[in-house]
Amino acid sequence: MCGIFAYLNFLSPKSREEIIELLIRGLERLEYRGYDSAGIGIDSVTNGVTLVKQSGKVKCLRDKIEAQKDALGFERELNIHVGIAHTRWATHGVPSDINSHPQRSDNDNEFVVVHNGIITNYKFVKQFLVQKGHKFESDTDTEVIAKLIKHLHVLHPSYSFRELVEQVIQQLEGAFALAFKSKHFPGEIVATRRGSPLVVGIKTKEKLASDHIPVLYSKDHRTHVYELPHGLARTESTAEFLPLGDDKEVEYFFASDASAIIEHTNRVIYLLDDDVASVDSEGILKIHRLKRCLEDSHAREITTLKMEIQQIMKGNFSSFMQKEIFEQPESVVNTMRGRINFDSETVVLGGIKEHLSEIRRCRRLLLIACGTSYHSTIATRQLLEELTELPVMVDLASDFLDRNTPIFRDDVCFFVSQSGETADTLLALRYCKQRGALIVGITNTVGSSICRESHCGVHINAGPEIGVASTKAYTSQMISLVMFALMISEDRISAQPRRSEIIQGLRKLPEQIKEVLTLDSKIQEISKEVFEKKSLLVLGRGYNYATCLEGALKIKEITYMHSEGIMAGELKHGPLALVDKGMPIVMICTRDNVFLKCMNALQQVTAREGRPLLICNKGDVEPQKFASNTLEVPRTVDCLQGLLTVIPLQLLSYHIAVLRGCNVDCPRNLAKSVTVE
Ligand code: F6R
Repeated sequence: MCGIFAYLNFLSPKSREEIIELLIRGLERLEYRGYDSAGIGIDSVTNGVTLVKQSGKVKCLRDKIEAQKDALGFERELNIHVGIAHTRWATHGVPSDINSHPQRSDNDNEFVVVHNGIITNYKFVKQFLVQKGHKFESDTDTEVIAKLIKHLHVLHPSYSFRELVEQVIQQLEGAFALAFKSKHFPGEIVATRRGSPLVVGIKTKEKLASDHIPVLYSKDHRTHVYELPHGLARTESTAEFLPLGDDKEVEYFFASDASAIIEHTNRVIYLLDDDVASVDSEGILKIHRLKRCLEDSHAREITTLKMEIQQIMKGNFSSFMQKEIFEQPESVVNTMRGRINFDSETVVLGGIKEHLSEIRRCRRLLLIACGTSYHSTIATRQLLEELTELPVMVDLASDFLDRNTPIFRDDVCFFVSQSGETADTLLALRYCKQRGALIVGITNTVGSSICRESHCGVHINAGPEIGVASTKAYTSQMISLVMFALMISEDRISAQPRRSEIIQGLRKLPEQIKEVLTLDSKIQEISKEVFEKKSLLVLGRGYNYATCLEGALKIKEITYMHSEGIMAGELKHGPLALVDKGMPIVMICTRDNVFLKCMNALQQVTAREGRPLLICNKGDVEPQKFASNTLEVPRTVDCLQGLLTVIPLQLLSYHIAVLRGCNVDCPRNLAKSVTVE
């Protein structure tokens, strides 16, 4: 929901201006996670912590800082410095300066903290702290964290910064990633996570002597908040360090997402839930935890990121969404790369192959996701049913949880998520895992929670998706599920002709996507005719039904225009009443087994004076007679056609949004990664 960025330079001199610029740039990279307010916490010119916070986008914070640059002492050089920064997507308390992060312990900013997530027991903790005389100034759940750490520090002044944070997180329930700074511990930072992502980047001049950093276990003395004055744990540290060479110069970056770090270093550690990472006054990074966890390997690997900085830049495009739409000829290739052999017509998904026999024996497949990712499951359900011959259920994660759906040990549950962090999807995953089902994660984010908590899975390799509206991830999710269907049916002789046509269809796909993208200027013209309308209906059926849902979602989320994806077979059961000559309609009618039924629907619409914009196959004149305008897309195999029909709708939503003056990459009220229920 929010983005955290923190930076520590140790014996690596930087001016305050450079440090602030680094923090702001980190926030700009993370702005897709939330953008209603932002703030930074840095060392003040005197001996303390200065906060600059501003509601609005990161740009507003930048302007505020610029206006205060003399007071902030821009030119001052700092040998060791800790800065923490935050971009917010409000959950508790309206967007305002006071509710922005960092949140603070008191007027002196003794402890400040940035937080991504939600503290579910904050009212309880707040009540306790209010009784102890703490005065709250914001409406956020986060403020309790800053007050609580100060409370503990007063009780136990000899505790280290890291020990204090360990005590704090024992009192917290909910989801969080946190980074702390304190005037009592200058030059030190402590960061931790539970349920929200956090990555640590390390930049050194010398090569690190090891690719692992050991995990140190602290004693667990869980205390409830009402018992706080008693029984706090002291933890023993051992002298195991991040192995630095003689040159002690080092820079650390803490971020919600590696995209904010990659321009500085490609060496990162993905923290696990309840890891407490601290950099002490010697510039040494340590990772402590109170309890062992199942996946714990006693060390955290320092991973080398393969992501390129160009991948996260906008290039010549006016928005990330536009760039990501146009990237699809490449992103689909990256999804298939090394997995499909088009000559031998074999498909191998390395992350799943060990579990194939288990999957083949299962009782049913469940595909669970939210939003666009859910639409990718609707788009592929029919093919999965056909090629696996298994019952396939698709579910919205939130509804799945609301229903307490029965799950069995011999179920195979797929969790599809671009971010890999969507709270509803993650909770549904844990629900199914507890009941013994096999968990398959389909995500675009390496190291994400869904990735880590799955038994096996597919990384869709679409590359970072920054625009809040998902585009290239959708097509890559669909292809990943199609590849799964192809792999699982490899042994079925009767399925070979069908498999073969699909594989050859996939081979041609990148070129066909390029062809669809040439419709861009025509779509821009069409958007001029509809951008002022109130509503837009998208009609289709069969394999194209998912395109209708996805197209309508794109339109409503980035243009704020009402839009509905309608199953054409349902028209006469209600939606037909909406149709008249003034209602804008998009109708998808391609040459597949429901073509004739779609033609019927088309005629029903034109009989009510509707003149739809038609998406049909190239050269197909028959349906065009009924259309006001036509977008022709190349013909492909029926189950892949949705990969081509969705692109004109992505482009249409983009152009309408531009004409309506909407912020394409950051639609109002939405965030890229929805880490709250
Ligand atoms: C819409 C969109 C959302 C996401 C949904 C799930 O364009 O992006 O509907 O698809 O929030 O997110 P992930 O896929 O990250 O689980």
